[in-house]
Amino acid sequence: AQFRAALTEAVHALPAREDAAPPVVGLVPTMGALHQGHAALLEAAQETADIVIASVFVNPLQFDDPDDYRLYPRDFDGDFALLTAHGAQLIFAPSTEEMYPGHPEGPLVTVTAGELGRRYEGAHRPGHFDGVATVVTKLFSIMAPPAPARLQAWFGQKDAEQVAVIARMVEDLSLPVRVRTVPVVRDEHGLAMSSRNRRLSDDDHTTALTLFRTLDELRRRAGAGEPLDVEGLTAEIRARGEIELDYLVVADPRTLLPADLSEDGVLTTAALALVAARIGPVRLIDNMELEPL
Ligand code: PAJ
Repeated sequence: AQFRAALTEAVHALPAREDAAPPVVGLVPTMGALHQGHAALLEAAQETADIVIASVFVNPLQFDDPDDYRLYPRDFDGDFALLTAHGAQLIFAPSTEEMYPGHPEGPLVTVTAGELGRRYEGAHRPGHFDGVATVVTKLFSIMAPPAPARLQAWFGQKDAEQVAVIARMVEDLSLPVRVRTVPVVRDEHGLAMSSRNRRLSDDDHTTALTLFRTLDELRRRAGAGEPLDVEGLTAEIRARGEIELDYLVVADPRTLLPADLSEDGVLTTAALALVAARIGPVRLIDNMELEPL
């Protein structure tokens, strides 16, 4: 309630836009332990929104592994500094009790991601996308700006399945939000930025680059009109032994169903290559857009 009052006040205090269009509130939902990937979302939000708001909440509902939840990095001081440096004007950082009174015993009506939430990441992390869908729906409700202001919510393509689930949820449930995305932000070596990278050793980091190189090789093959041979690449990674590969797949970006390939294994439509693997103590995901020749 306090946050909503602050949001209403901030929206009412906005000067009228020159184009007379209603004000836009840009929301960037996060789980904290922020890095340059999150910064890119804030920057993008700032370009189109009149007010940028961010949330920091490590959502217990989306963790299927209690250790992953317990060990998830938490650094509120660092987060606060990054958020304010990148233009967040309001920060919503609720406690678990505030978000889910009575959790985990309390009754809870949740949102399910349905079939779309049971593909790759969803299959490996049962309930994960239901947890994401539930918390994101709550955040959209809490952050709903006073009329006529409109809400835009920003998500990273790093979590491509999450984007597909949220975009479809907004459509199916007619949520009054516009979903916008930014491309995957990578470090100078190509590794997709992730809060979990903080738990990788230098050796793990080097090993993890195999994921990026594999995706990049798929992108090259797709663009050259060569057979993708996902099975061959999968076998190569597994043979090296240091990566516990969960999946390497090429899928339709919206439905997440396996992408159309020609009889000889050549990509015929734009698709997403998705990968997930356990390296050292952490599980990493990455993806890349593939364009056919
Ligand atoms: P979190 O992992 O903190 O990520 C917050 C947002 O930052 C997500 O939209 C994610 O896709 C984006 N992001 C993370 N790393 C990125 C990178 N390297 N490049 C581009 N974008 C990146 O995703 C979540 O939190 C949660 O599931 C959440 C949506 C907040 C719901 O709890």
